[in-house]
Amino acid sequence: MKYYGVFGNPIAHSKSPLIHHLFAEQTDLHISYEPLLAPLDSFTTAVTNFFQTGSGANVTVPFKEEAFALADQLSTRAQRAKAVNTLKKLEDGKLLGDNTDGAGLVNDLLNNHVQITGKSILILGAGGAVRGILEPLLAHNPKEIAIVNRTVEKAEQLANEFADLGPMAACGYDWIDAPVDIIINGTSASLSGELPPLADTLVKAGDTLCYDMMYSKDTTVFNQWAQQRGAARTLDGLGMLVEQAAEAFYIWTGVRPNPTPVLKALRAQL
Ligand code: ATR
Repeated sequence: MKYYGVFGNPIAHSKSPLIHHLFAEQTDLHISYEPLLAPLDSFTTAVTNFFQTGSGANVTVPFKEEAFALADQLSTRAQRAKAVNTLKKLEDGKLLGDNTDGAGLVNDLLNNHVQITGKSILILGAGGAVRGILEPLLAHNPKEIAIVNRTVEKAEQLANEFADLGPMAACGYDWIDAPVDIIINGTSASLSGELPPLADTLVKAGDTLCYDMMYSKDTTVFNQWAQQRGAARTLDGLGMLVEQAAEAFYIWTGVRPNPTPVLKALRAQL
């Protein structure tokens, strides 16, 4: 039996144990995967204790940056994200830090037959969640990624940091109104049911795809906004959640689970 888990605070609400148990069942692997509540001031101790016996762990809010600082080795995508959501104990006992969030988003887009290559992408928000998705998106050669944020300086900083990987732009909400192919909401506004001040004309009716990195039982406020303006499709972040987990499961076990039935089961439980 190998031991896995997810660190966070709070953590009781996490869907990761259910997702990984379903992956294990599907792939006939006998693993344990538990929610791991780490005290806010002693994440490092909690991680050290867990890895006495543990093989791998996910890391969620608010510990992703601490996990980044703690890891002995980092994947390229974790270095770019400056955050770690997956830790793996290597054979020599060292901890590898990776970040599967961006791969989760990209895989969910690809599962839904969304073409990224050659497309204009507008990303709302410039926080940690957005930083984590830029490298995997740029790897698919979009035409351009524009980051729009209330605090324009943060968008500019991110655009500059990733400009070596592809065409990046930054702007404020009142600077943009030209239609784009894909809009991704990476702000935390949805958490409070708020909507960034978006121009209606950003959505080209019947053409633009809108993706909310948040998810909820009912259509998110951002996706409602998009549907009302005739977006070709709207997707929410539940698929990204399952896909980032599938990528972590693969890193730990070398086995790639099928996320589709797991996503279906999760959606039914919302
Ligand atoms: P996370 O780790 O989820 O990315 P974060 O780093 O706090 O969280 O970033 C939150 C992002 O959501 C920021 O880009 C924030 O904009 P500012 O940088 O200007 O604060 C954005 N955000 C939060 N609430 C918003 C709202 N009501 N409208 C527009 N943007 C919002």
